[in-house]
Amino acid sequence: MIATDRLILRNWRPSDLEPWIAMNADPQVMEHFPAPLTPADSEAMLHANQALITDKGWGLWAVERRGDGAFLGFTGLMQLRPSNPLAPGVEIGWRFARHAWGSGFASEAARAALAFGFERLALPEIVAFTAEGNVRSQAVMDRVGMARREDLDFDHPALPKGHVLERHVVWVAEAG
Ligand SMILES: CC(C)(COP(=O)(O)OP(=O)(O)OC[C@H]1O[C@@H](n2cnc3c(N)ncnc32)[C@H](O)[C@@H]1OP(=O)(O)O)[C@@H](O)C(=O)NCCC(=O)NCCS
Repeated sequence: MIATDRLILRNWRPSDLEPWIAMNADPQVMEHFPAPLTPADSEAMLHANQALITDKGWGLWAVERRGDGAFLGFTGLMQLRPSNPLAPGVEIGWRFARHAWGSGFASEAARAALAFGFERLALPEIVAFTAEGNVRSQAVMDRVGMARREDLDFDHPALPKGHVLERHVVWVAEAG
């Protein structure tokens, strides 16, 4: 568990499922992904996230608001898939319910996750990437001090050639 001024990053609980399904079904939250997630996909992802955190002690943490315990979304670290052009390495990612945008929660959680990666896992660097059009996510990368790395931009291998989301842009944070 990681605590920040306003948030707790923690392992997933059964009570997260309902708001998690709702946020992944929201077309605005999922605008820069191929499609919103079905309830079954969301449930499978919750269990996968939970198992990784239980096993390794880190992963994509559920984020709750300290004031009222509300589930807001996730932020965390994930091993890059071998098929990712940036692999091997660790990426940072985030996704928040629409009602939790515009309050600085994603940046606050991201700073804590980066600190965990550098201080507890001794990672040399952490990457972040997103579809070219996802300017809100790119603003988080800038806000937390990651550096834009145009030389690392890539076409996402999981998307068909010419897909509108194919081009991905890259930011990197380095230890120290
Ligand atoms: C990407 C995403 C997490 C960004 O959320 P966000 O709320 O815009 O990001 P932040 O937490 O950094 O908040 C910044 C905003 O909060 C405002 N803010 C208000 N109070 C603040 C505070 N105390 N501290 C910092 N910022 C604050 C900032 O001014 C800024 O507002 P602006 O967007 O109007 O400029 C969100 O849009 C999202 O979940 N998108 C869908 C999923 C997704 O695309 N994930 C990334 C895939 S790679």
